[in-house]
Amino acid sequence: MTTWNRRDVLKAGAAAAGASLLPGCAPAKMAGARAPSPAPLARQQREQLLVDRGWHFQLGNAADVDLDLAYGRGEMFAKAGELFAASGAEFDDSAWRTVDLPHDWAVELPFRDNVAELIEFGSKPLGRGYPDTSIGWYRRVLNIPASDAGRRLFLRFDGVYRDAVVALNGHYLGRNLSGYAPFEYDISDIVDYGASNVLVVRVDATGREGWYYEGAGIYRHVWLVKTHALHVPRWGTFVTSALTQAGATLTVVTSLDNHGEHAATGRVSHAVLDPAGELVATSDARDLAVAGRGRGELTHEVAVRAPRLWSIDTPALYRLVTTVEHDGAIVDQYETQFGIRTVHFDAAKGFFLNGAPLVIKGTCNHQDHAGVGSALPDRLQAYRIERLKAMGSNAYRTSHNPPTPELLDACDRLGMLVLDETRMFTPTEEGTGQLERLIRRDRNHPSVFAWSIANEEHRDQDNSRGARIAGTLAALAHRLDPSRPVTAAMNGGWGGDGMSRVLDVQGCNYERAARPRHNLENFHRQYPDKPMLGTEVASTFCTRGVYTVDKARGYVTGYDVDKPGYGATAEEWWKYFAARPYLGGGFVWTGFDYRGEPSPYEWPCISSHFGIMDTCGFAKDNFYYYKAWWGSEPTLHLFPHWNWHGREASEIDVWVHSNLAFVELVLNGKSLGKKPMERLGHLSWKVPYAPGVLVARGYDAKHRLVMSAQQETTGAPARIVLAADRPSIAADGEDISVITVSVVDAQGRAVATADNLIGFEVSGQGALIGVGNGDPSSHENDKGTTRRLFGGLASAIVQAARAPGPLRIVATAAGLGAATLVVTCTAATPRPSA
Ligand code: GAL
Repeated sequence: MTTWNRRDVLKAGAAAAGASLLPGCAPAKMAGARAPSPAPLARQQREQLLVDRGWHFQLGNAADVDLDLAYGRGEMFAKAGELFAASGAEFDDSAWRTVDLPHDWAVELPFRDNVAELIEFGSKPLGRGYPDTSIGWYRRVLNIPASDAGRRLFLRFDGVYRDAVVALNGHYLGRNLSGYAPFEYDISDIVDYGASNVLVVRVDATGREGWYYEGAGIYRHVWLVKTHALHVPRWGTFVTSALTQAGATLTVVTSLDNHGEHAATGRVSHAVLDPAGELVATSDARDLAVAGRGRGELTHEVAVRAPRLWSIDTPALYRLVTTVEHDGAIVDQYETQFGIRTVHFDAAKGFFLNGAPLVIKGTCNHQDHAGVGSALPDRLQAYRIERLKAMGSNAYRTSHNPPTPELLDACDRLGMLVLDETRMFTPTEEGTGQLERLIRRDRNHPSVFAWSIANEEHRDQDNSRGARIAGTLAALAHRLDPSRPVTAAMNGGWGGDGMSRVLDVQGCNYERAARPRHNLENFHRQYPDKPMLGTEVASTFCTRGVYTVDKARGYVTGYDVDKPGYGATAEEWWKYFAARPYLGGGFVWTGFDYRGEPSPYEWPCISSHFGIMDTCGFAKDNFYYYKAWWGSEPTLHLFPHWNWHGREASEIDVWVHSNLAFVELVLNGKSLGKKPMERLGHLSWKVPYAPGVLVARGYDAKHRLVMSAQQETTGAPARIVLAADRPSIAADGEDISVITVSVVDAQGRAVATADNLIGFEVSGQGALIGVGNGDPSSHENDKGTTRRLFGGLASAIVQAARAPGPLRIVATAAGLGAATLVVTCTAATPRPSA
């Protein structure tokens, strides 16, 4: 039997498109042919169900067996099916909390005051010394219908922090150490069909992988995937593209698993849908015989005429629909999203996307966000990428670990390049296994332009052991993906017989010019054929909305002046890199503040100061430095605020970030002078404070006024203002709106210095899932219902229920009354759940 897509496509192709572009390839453009819905049979064969809802959760204990559900008492593996007391169907978990994934229990814990060993990690009680808050037990019932018998069932975890032991019906499924790498179990042999099955996960977060906040728990999605015995396995397709004169040639490598006892033949074909969903190409259908309980692989070439290339401005995404037929029926249909684009580095000219030079204007980031810790709803990933794009950034480094898949989906969709990094620099099974899972999972994402195999391996980066380990990892990366270069983020030891030798691109973290092997220019001079990239730069310290250093409270200032010994201000690093194309651009440490690593301070700080934005995504002043010099729009940003009551006549440092030609400063109608803007610089004035209106006027090179910005002395807060990033969201139980909370005075002017305590009440079709304010020293509860404004702002994240209707947020503060905002949750089909 021929299938819907092949027959339709071949017919349409013969009539409309003429000859194929490649021998053996079907015609390219199927003029206007729309892909019909897949046959119903195929839908039955592959299902992907979310296992996020309705888990039961309880803390265990790392030091006391009795308080840890007897884990570790007696034999664990003597007989299969006897692991975990909580595995029994009769086990009473009614006292456990019900939680939905993604879930991070660390963010729920209170801060521990001033404990030296916890400060780097965000001052939450996790670790060997905190046994009663470092183990989490998750339990959930999976109902598997009798009709699933004969199919293959896979349980897929996108990421658990960390050291997870998983059992189904008491049968050990496995142990996954990594807090970031995905893992999957084939549970087909273990489940009871037509019955309830008990899934138990013990998560041990006593160990740490990094030197920053990492969360705790099942903080990414869990999936149940059901397939036919003959099917495309997890990450079973790999699409690469080569641009030709006529268009693009896709090379598609497909794996086919046969879980049956006997050899079986699958007929494999592909259809390509363009960004508008139009069918634009198909492959031929090829038979692949796969041994019983075996895996086969085949390669197709598919021509796509006049492809729309994926780029940061036009992130065109194609879909490949792979169909497997067996005995005349479709047994699997598997979708792969991909983009058509080329990347390469040039040692003299830097990075190229689709053959055109592109300077990397990147940020490094950890994965946590205000209010939710490391358990981000999918939409929050997109929110963060949108914020980064708004300041002109075009690249994201997943420092220092494999990211959540939805982060990459957002980068694909929004046009953000990704330097994808593994966590463990180890050439044995654990390290290569983590890297292999990263690459197999992520290699179809057009946003990913390079692999990073290490960060600052200071014991090994400069020596031959480092080169051997890196050589093993780089070879693996090249084997799994010949289409992307391999780099490593090295803070010195460049060149010589160290890791550099085996890297395609020299990743450079910072510079200490005095050290010969940590000097950008030296390296380029000595190795003129080795491309370079600023894998980590800047580490500038800034606190949003603060303009006087306050050590006791743990604040630096918003001016671009403060940095660690190895770091640079925004202006310093960017001037240096922008003048040297061979460096290819770089990744600022960091786009967003994150929990932990509060340098230059310690307690009471609980989060970092490195972000260009704070933990909520509110812009610090440096955001506008980057927007001015990375972006393309005219930008004019004047700071600080103009509420300096009590400091009348004393000098205030006034700064302007702008890309206009001239800026004039005017206080209460009196000009304080017009100055030319230095390219890649900023302007500053010392202004004796007088309350009133401070205005910056920006002019073009011909002295024509382009835009103005102003700071005004305000009165006391009079009213709360709520603003939603999206006033209408999907009632799918997952979508969120990010609410910005501010206050204005009686004349409606935002009060940037306000610190009112705001209370929240959320009712209707949704719930409050977290609050924050970006204050690096706030010890308020992110899961509470109150938050103080910091620098005049706070953030509240609300999540839709699964029924349409209004979601009402009421915010109150003493003396300010109440403000109400309604977010509309519109009817939506929740993703299918197990
Ligand atoms: C780098 C390191 C980052 C972060 C940063 C702070 O050396 O790679 O993870 O610690 O310093 O400046």
